[in-house]
Amino acid sequence: PEPLRIAVTPGDGIGPEVVTEAVHCLERLREKHQLPLEWTRFPWPSHAWHEQHGEVMPADALQQLARYDAILLGALGDPGPMDDPDRYLLPDSVSLAPLLEMRKGFDQWVCERPARLLPGARQYLADDRARDIDMLVIRENSEGEYVGQGGRLRQGTEHEVATQMEVFTRRGTESIIRYGFEQARQRAEARRAEGRKREFRSPQCRVSESQVCLITKRNALRYWGDMYTEVFQEVARDYPDVATHHELIDAACMKFVQAPWAFDVVVASNLQGDILTDLAAVLSGGMGVAPSCNLNPDNPDMPSMFEPTHGSAPDIAGQGLADPTAMLFTTARMLDWLGRKEPVLAKAGQELFDAMAADLAENGGTQRDTRTIGDSVLARLG
Ligand code: IPM
Ligand code: MN
Repeated sequence: PEPLRIAVTPGDGIGPEVVTEAVHCLERLREKHQLPLEWTRFPWPSHAWHEQHGEVMPADALQQLARYDAILLGALGDPGPMDDPDRYLLPDSVSLAPLLEMRKGFDQWVCERPARLLPGARQYLADDRARDIDMLVIRENSEGEYVGQGGRLRQGTEHEVATQMEVFTRRGTESIIRYGFEQARQRAEARRAEGRKREFRSPQCRVSESQVCLITKRNALRYWGDMYTEVFQEVARDYPDVATHHELIDAACMKFVQAPWAFDVVVASNLQGDILTDLAAVLSGGMGVAPSCNLNPDNPDMPSMFEPTHGSAPDIAGQGLADPTAMLFTTARMLDWLGRKEPVLAKAGQELFDAMAADLAENGGTQRDTRTIGDSVLARLG
């Protein structure tokens, strides 16, 4: 078959270091199973590209990337060494812009951020029920608080006013909520297949094997809060087998710390999902293990983008200290996603996940450098 094509964009800081380990694993899997897969490494988007060309990526970057089946991104943003007065500075709004441009340009309206505390991963919560943390936070990824409309009036004067618009469409709302219910069903099915059942209760005291929790701030942000709630109730009628739940964002933060094992699928707006997923990452072992998938579920011709939740960590960049686990986990999710086009890739994704999880179970908690972790996972791939 025609090979599927991956655009590998290592980016800045620790991005290239962790991406290198991911590519080693891809090479091994391709060799082992003759996978129909090829990839191209791009020097952009990056701080370095900006330094040379005055822009973080070429003007036709999105057109170039559009020809690929997926984008595997390391990390973006690089303020450089803090003690160097001559460092080349780039504001976050410039260096991180490609992330938002790709999400928008390729209509990646779903952001999936699984948070499951795997054996061996660092357990930040003292309560041992934390071992049961297994949720999927689904972040609306294309509208809401991130539409980037607004401005600064009378800038710099004492009468300055900054406005930042939030836009929520019924269509976007319904799509993301429906996606959440579908995922809840699939997760219950997968658990049944593995013989591990979970129980959730609806307000009506019905017991279900899966749950969707909707996050809003409808007590203060009424308009979109009410629309989200209304649409949630409508969509829920199509999924009588899934328990439903609603939390305000502030209370959700509290309950994520108090009893995160009580959550299954969580659906949140763009900004609220952004905040909640950093918290979820820590609950499931920290930034070193958290993957992030920016998905376009509608159009198989548009690339989805896979990146670890962590950033470019300039403080440890270039030292080979970054944990590539999140990147490997992300790569496994990418292969699983590409399995929609080539089922054999989903199997390879499972293999990579199993190898990464086995390494974590055995060696998690010990101090190891990037290469050591990568090699250990590679060895498990045979
Ligand atoms: C993330 C990041 C980005 C976001 C930033 C870098 C723009 O925090 O992917 O979670 O806010 O979406
Ligand atoms: Mn974030």
